[in-house]
Amino acid sequence: MKNNKFINKIICSDTLELLPKIESGSVDVVLTDPPYFLDKLDDNWDHEKVSNRNNQYTIKSLPAGMKFDRAQGKKFYAWYLKISEEIFRILKPGGFFFSFSSPRLYHRMASAIDDAGFEIRDAFMWLYTQNQAKAMGVDHFIKKMKIDEKAKEKIKEKLNGWKTPQIKSCFEPIAMAQKPTDHTYLNNVLEHEVGLLNTHVRIGNNMYPANVFAVDSINELIDKTFLLPKPTKREKGEYNDHKTVKPLAVCEYLIRLSAFAENAVVLDPFVGSGTTAVAAKKLGKNYIGIDANEKYVKISERRLKELDEKPDLFVDIVGSQKYAQRNLQVQLQIA
Ligand SMILES: C[S@@+](CC[C@H](N)C(=O)[O-])C[C@H]1O[C@@H](n2cnc3c(N)ncnc32)[C@H](O)[C@@H]1O
Repeated sequence: MKNNKFINKIICSDTLELLPKIESGSVDVVLTDPPYFLDKLDDNWDHEKVSNRNNQYTIKSLPAGMKFDRAQGKKFYAWYLKISEEIFRILKPGGFFFSFSSPRLYHRMASAIDDAGFEIRDAFMWLYTQNQAKAMGVDHFIKKMKIDEKAKEKIKEKLNGWKTPQIKSCFEPIAMAQKPTDHTYLNNVLEHEVGLLNTHVRIGNNMYPANVFAVDSINELIDKTFLLPKPTKREKGEYNDHKTVKPLAVCEYLIRLSAFAENAVVLDPFVGSGTTAVAAKKLGKNYIGIDANEKYVKISERRLKELDEKPDLFVDIVGSQKYAQRNLQVQLQIA
């Protein structure tokens, strides 16, 4: 098998140093959640700093990711273009690239992927309801104005409810890109065993694969059509303190949709606590995971080991009893 050195391993490295060592045309699917270069959540991803900074609400220090700086998007684009060019080389013809993003920088990410040669086939929308509103009032500045108290009160009253332009974020966009196929789709899938999507994978109430999903219950109609199982603490691992662990069901959904070959290789160049690798292994596929932080590499390895030793910890999203009981038919149905 190609990439023997890396197959079914989690490698501790800067991704840009490791990717050039992976063989060209050797990977079926890349599924990743990169650092977004938003302020305080940038490429120098440091767990302690990120967790300490998440909840700062003073005027001087805007909440993580909310400072507006044109340079962030440009820096992110330049860096992600290099990553995407490597991923383009590594993928088989017709191979898929799923990349999570933030609504603010999605355009930069999608442009970098596009400019690397990929076809942007679609964007998924991961809906959620639970997120903190990040906008701030301006009372603090009004207080500092050199005018009398009565005038200050008047301004405050006038601006009641008006806050800084940060909308509450309730979705996460995920780009779905594809390396162009070799001749036709049929030719590509017969030759390279990748390039088509599995329409037998169904969410919720037998919904044909769609570009919307949620893991939190929203309302009956949305739940029936778009709801995937919510990640449990057990599934993440009690010891897993990574700040942005993705739901296993989401990774499984995207891998089931796109990985055709029995021995398909799924690569996550920013694997964090290993969710993509766990999903690939659970589905009987191969994985390669990369993370620059040794601590996360160890957490990934522990989760992968637990999948062998205690498979019950990981929710079975096909025909899950627990979700069936909620009468929501929350399951992925495979015909
Ligand atoms: C958003 S997290 C991924 C979380 C993952 N999806 C999960 O479910 O746990 C991004 C990861 O990228 C890693 N990272 C940041 N910059 C990196 C780089 N240059 N090379 C490799 N890994 C990097 C961070 O350590 C972090 O764990």
